[in-house]
Amino acid sequence: MGRRNRAGAASREDRQQGRRFPMGETSPRAEREFDIVLWGATGATGRRAAHHLARRGAENGVSLAIGGRNRAKLETVRDGLAGGDTIAILVGDSLDAAFMHDMTARTRVVVSTVGPFALYGSELVAACAANGTHYCDLTGEPQWMRAMIDAHQDTARRTGARIVHACGHDSIPSDLGVQFLQEAAVARHGKPCRRIANRITRMKGGFSGGTAASFVNAMKVRETDPDFDRLSQDPYALCPEGERDGPDGPDRMMPLEVSWDADLQAWTKPFFMGPMNSKVVRRTNAIMDYPYGRDFTYQETALTRGGIGGWWAAMSYTLFGRALLIAMAIPATRRLLQRRVLPKSGEGPSKEVRETGSYEMVMVGEMPDGTILKARITAQGDPGVRSTTLMLTEAALCLAEDADRIAVGGGFWTPAAAMGPLLRDRITEHAGLSFEMMDDEPG
Ligand SMILES: NC(=O)c1ccc[n+]([C@@H]2O[C@H](COP(=O)([O-])OP(=O)(O)OC[C@H]3O[C@@H](n4cnc5c(N)ncnc54)[C@H](OP(=O)(O)O)[C@@H]3O)[C@@H](O)[C@H]2O)c1
Repeated sequence: MGRRNRAGAASREDRQQGRRFPMGETSPRAEREFDIVLWGATGATGRRAAHHLARRGAENGVSLAIGGRNRAKLETVRDGLAGGDTIAILVGDSLDAAFMHDMTARTRVVVSTVGPFALYGSELVAACAANGTHYCDLTGEPQWMRAMIDAHQDTARRTGARIVHACGHDSIPSDLGVQFLQEAAVARHGKPCRRIANRITRMKGGFSGGTAASFVNAMKVRETDPDFDRLSQDPYALCPEGERDGPDGPDRMMPLEVSWDADLQAWTKPFFMGPMNSKVVRRTNAIMDYPYGRDFTYQETALTRGGIGGWWAAMSYTLFGRALLIAMAIPATRRLLQRRVLPKSGEGPSKEVRETGSYEMVMVGEMPDGTILKARITAQGDPGVRSTTLMLTEAALCLAEDADRIAVGGGFWTPAAAMGPLLRDRITEHAGLSFEMMDDEPG
């Protein structure tokens, strides 16, 4: 596939995003009341993020406030926090633009778990962009991310607000894992891999009510938004204008297909969040001016094993995933699943599932000469809540504490583009992740 505008100058967003700033030049005003506001501290992920933030923030004297719409619930959360008596409570509604404006003017960083973000996140992002307040969240909704970039990119660039979506399991391990493998490829062989296949080799855990609500909301939006499917399937949908073409084929949510991975000698099956994570990885490449190359291709699926057993495991999962998608697309079955099966707001996996959960991904990179490099990324804690909230916490702390070490200015960034190795070090040390290279295999 060809690439439109490839030979020409970089797009406006790209040029402006790609600028690097000397230390400190773009930090929002340091003299704000709070370093970090956690918005949505009463939900399934928010409550855990509050604990991690209070504990980690106290180590370094970070001034913290927690916020949400229900004072009684917020007080209960605060009562259980380390150093809770020093933590302020802010009560308001996400849809109240004036409140969002005032709140974001009082803090250097906002970290939000109030989702579905397409329903409750827009006023907050607008306010952060306008007030030069750094921001990170847990969204996995590419349609909304595209809308926010288009609406507030210029403002965020002007005010110095660093806005970083997708700071949970979607999409930090994929985005930082690819960056890690590409750094190793350049260090060892002088070039980046031209192709990376990310295979989820283990995933143990559950998901929360907010994740279910985001899925339900996406299926509802799909019924009325004629652009929904086009954007979902466009692999370059999150790239800057003029840079939305390239060698990768369409992102398909749950195609009825399984494929053989010759490098890992096992069958692969679709991964629900693969299309979303892939868009983030491709955006990182585009907004950083193509450190992975302009012909870079990326694919993210899950791995089963070899033989007929592996094929059947992949096929049965694929059939189940497709059936679930169809059931979620039909309003009557969707309502039934919501009532009877899916977790409700505030609910999530049990403590045991959260703590015994884990995941692993193996990234297979191919160099232009056929040499194969592999990286393994592992994490302790279930991906949907524990690992997600630990990573989100570190992303917020990175935006606050490392503001003067982050090399990019205001604008909409990905985790790898904004924080890269700074965040990788933090999540390795404090969030139970590990990034390691496996042996190279000659082509
Ligand atoms: N990226 C990832 O890997 C990942 C992983 C997990 C979750 N997520 C996403 O994170 C989000 C949160 O998930 P969750 O399970 O924590 O959700 P949840 O349990 O439903 O919590 C939602 C939070 O938002 C608050 N809220 C809702 N509407 C509000 C409003 N109008 N104004 C102020 N606060 C409001 C709720 O307050 P009340 O308590 O007062 O209701 C609660 O604190 C979802 O969008 C989910 O998709 C992403």
